Amino acid sequence: MKAPCERPPGFCYVSEKSRKPALYAEQIPLRALAEQFGTPLYVYSSAAIDERVRAFQAAFGRSEAAICYSVKANPNQSILRLLGELGCGFDVVSSGELERVLRARPDSGPRVVFSGVGKTGAEIDAALKAGILLFNVESAAELEVLAARAARLRRTARTAFRVNPDVPADTHPYISTGLEKHKFGVPIREARELYRKAAQSRYLRIAGVSVHIGSQISDPAPFRKAMERVARLVSELRADRHQIDYVDAGGGLGIRYAGSEDFEKRLAEYAQAITQPLRDLRVKVLLEPGRSIIGPAGVLLTRVLYRKRNGDKRFVIVDAAMNDLIRPSLYQAEHQIVPVEDRKAELETVDVVGPVCESGDFFARGRALPQVGEQDLLAILDAGAYGMALASNYNSRVRPAEVLVEGKKARLIRRREAISDLLRAEIVKRV
Ligand code: LLP
Repeated sequence: MKAPCERPPGFCYVSEKSRKPALYAEQIPLRALAEQFGTPLYVYSSAAIDERVRAFQAAFGRSEAAICYSVKANPNQSILRLLGELGCGFDVVSSGELERVLRARPDSGPRVVFSGVGKTGAEIDAALKAGILLFNVESAAELEVLAARAARLRRTARTAFRVNPDVPADTHPYISTGLEKHKFGVPIREARELYRKAAQSRYLRIAGVSVHIGSQISDPAPFRKAMERVARLVSELRADRHQIDYVDAGGGLGIRYAGSEDFEKRLAEYAQAITQPLRDLRVKVLLEPGRSIIGPAGVLLTRVLYRKRNGDKRFVIVDAAMNDLIRPSLYQAEHQIVPVEDRKAELETVDVVGPVCESGDFFARGRALPQVGEQDLLAILDAGAYGMALASNYNSRVRPAEVLVEGKKARLIRRREAISDLLRAEIVKRV
């Protein structure tokens, strides 16, 4: 019988000679990576990243759409470099992200879009100097700052407004962004007036319209609705004699955390929802996917430290914690957790928890998992997006190492932090 694939093509069980099937990252057993690099450890599959990017390119057509990978999902420079090699541009929200992109791919400035409600003057300057593709302006006040900074540097800023289409999307309230009550974008009904204003500035060149309605959205309907509103606006703006070359459709396509899925089908529906409303407009579509590219391409590998029982409850205490992967605690996200070996052991209902001193520090509660013993390894799946990116040093824990696998090769792309890294920036008065 063929061993199952948890997240093809990156993470599959492989039947090894005279052993039970073990979970591999491409052609390397996760067990070997844990031994070499220690745990907790983020492991990414380059084949999985490659496959997702190509799926996007195929679904949208390379000449009509460009992927600007959303750096916030996973900003490791080696990941950015790989994505750049695959033909992606980048969506950044800070000068830190811009710097990462430029270091990973020094020629990628003209493929960068810059979003965010609170861009500082210094950040705008850095983006102007990098010659980025598009500023997604999110308020009238920001427009003034952009115009002033561009004039001072004598650089033209290609400008779009991020419009807020007032479209509800079914997702966690913290990551829904497309309603007027949210802080994002400018109300779509005020957009024409703002474009008129922008057109008066010599150093701003109007180039597009941008929208992003939220993240982890599975239903294509809200994307379609938002694009219909954007399409109407593009026609109005053109009637007002503005040049609109780009529609930046944002990111937000959800993934299935509960198991593997037919991603091509999901992507095809999404592509239809985005492109159909725009079909007569001859605009270039920009896409800002983060999670759907890198989420399933990464796991967090962790080792069981202890088992314990409190009354009727059984706890599996692992060496990773909420500081390493905060999604379960922050968004009630249910990441699948699988044993690296012996996935057929008898099921038991457990809480999988970390060592941090909060009851909110859990990866799963009341979850039926194959029984694991102390020192066994677990893989927390779909941790490639917003995993390491949101990791912190809470409880003065060092952040995990990251490894990128390509076939039989594994490359350390970020070393495990040392306690000295944590202390480096602090200033202590000498006694
Ligand atoms: N573009 C903009 C303007 C965004 O704000 C975001 C995500 C993206 C693109 C990428 O969205 P994606 O394709 O990854 O859904 N930490 C949360 C997700 C926060 C998303 C923030 N913005 C989580 O772990 O679920």
